[in-house]
Amino acid sequence: MANILIVDDEQSYRQLISLVFEESGHTIRTAKNGRQGIELLEEEPAEVIISDVRMPDMDGIGLLREARKIAPDVGVVLMTAFATVDTAREAFILGADDFIQKPFDVEELKLIVTKLLEKQALIDENRAFKRAQRERGSVKNIIGTSDKMQAIFQMIETVAEVQSTVLVTGESGTGKELVARAIHDLSPRSEKPFISINCGAFTETLLESELFGYVKGSFTGANSDRQGLFEASNEGTIFLDELGEMSTAMQVKLLRVLQERKVRPVGSHDEISIDSRVIAATNRDLKAMTEDGSFREDLFYRISVIPISLPPLRERREDIPELVEHFIDKFCKQTGKEIGISEKASQMLESYAWHGNVRELEHTIERAVALEREDEIQPERLPDNITNYNPTRINAEFDLPEEGVNLVSHLGNLEKTYVVEALRMSGGNQTKAAKLLQMPVRSLRHLLDKHNIRSLSAQMRSSGD
Ligand SMILES: Nc1ncnc2c1ncn2[C@@H]1O[C@H](COP(=O)(O)OP(=O)(O)OP(=O)(O)O)[C@@H](O)[C@H]1O
Ligand SMILES: [Mg+2]
Repeated sequence: MANILIVDDEQSYRQLISLVFEESGHTIRTAKNGRQGIELLEEEPAEVIISDVRMPDMDGIGLLREARKIAPDVGVVLMTAFATVDTAREAFILGADDFIQKPFDVEELKLIVTKLLEKQALIDENRAFKRAQRERGSVKNIIGTSDKMQAIFQMIETVAEVQSTVLVTGESGTGKELVARAIHDLSPRSEKPFISINCGAFTETLLESELFGYVKGSFTGANSDRQGLFEASNEGTIFLDELGEMSTAMQVKLLRVLQERKVRPVGSHDEISIDSRVIAATNRDLKAMTEDGSFREDLFYRISVIPISLPPLRERREDIPELVEHFIDKFCKQTGKEIGISEKASQMLESYAWHGNVRELEHTIERAVALEREDEIQPERLPDNITNYNPTRINAEFDLPEEGVNLVSHLGNLEKTYVVEALRMSGGNQTKAAKLLQMPVRSLRHLLDKHNIRSLSAQMRSSGD
């Protein structure tokens, strides 16, 4: 229910309107003139002000102007017995939400107020949503308003609360490490360390001593005890990046740690209990690797308790403009520049395939910001592969529908389409068409027979005459 302020110098109007809205359960305050109205508004906010225009001691227009300063969002309905076009226009310019002419039907006034309150509720909701989104975005520094990324945010928030092991998968540059950090930052462990290790960057023995630590004298060069990263991340999170690169022998050792929650430093007889949350990441297909034996199946199931799969950037293009803005901002701050991006360059970025995903986009913007001397990034500052990219000619991406696809027949159709198109472009000239398709004429003829379209080239020749 709303707080409504009624301002009118005529007592009968104040009473009538009060009665109407009190009946519907709103809280009502009344004032005799604009000045009093402002005093009441300063005392306590209101959602709606219903005010007369002609009053002594600050009229409705003055009230509106002052009210907007104190409470920019308050809804204001002005009423007047002399609705001249000018007052109405002035009221709207000053930002009145509505206008009603006296005498009026109370139902009409009720309707105006109801609509106003509905509009405000929507604005509030929208603001709360935006705020929540901003807060989420800023905690994690992850950009993405696409449905796919919003679903990922939800997932991050949910898994942050629990202790389960998480496996983050996705192509290179999709933000796997960012997600791992976000999970840690939002978890009850956020005050404890987040330790990241690239499993692909170490030999097997080195990785073992990195992860589990070692005791003095356990191998040449081990001049003192050294704590492993599992122990260092105790009560915090350990991020095992590039897990797919881990040797099978190390996989066995890792599996043991996950099962027993204990590590044994190299050369030690004693085990140390650890409580680290494990988040792993890989851009390889671990499931497929279990089939050829390069990844242990038992470890796979242990590690992928909660899988999070990051979509490639080309499957969420709607995120590109915001990412571009984010990175321009970032690199402008770093370089002290102040630039934007031209419409054309921006379009190119939005349609590019981004096989290197967000990282490739980030590097592209970094380079463009560094090179640009104008106040907007021009297409010339983008690499050739982006400016020359033409998504309309050959579609580089395919959506595999959920129900699957008959690949053989699909490819057959595709083949036929290209052959027909090549014949059309070459006016039925088979030699030219074969050239366009970069194949010997003999192969083209074979395709014409295969698709039963040998007569087509003759037809195209004659229609071209
Ligand atoms: N949604 C995003 N919003 C903002 N920055 C992002 C986003 N996704 C990725 N980035 C940035 O892109 C770069 C690559 O991200 P990250 O290192 O997390 O990718 P990755 O998936 O771990 O890649 P790789 O498999 O190559 O290690 C980082 O600089 C990261 O900050
Ligand atoms: Mg990474």
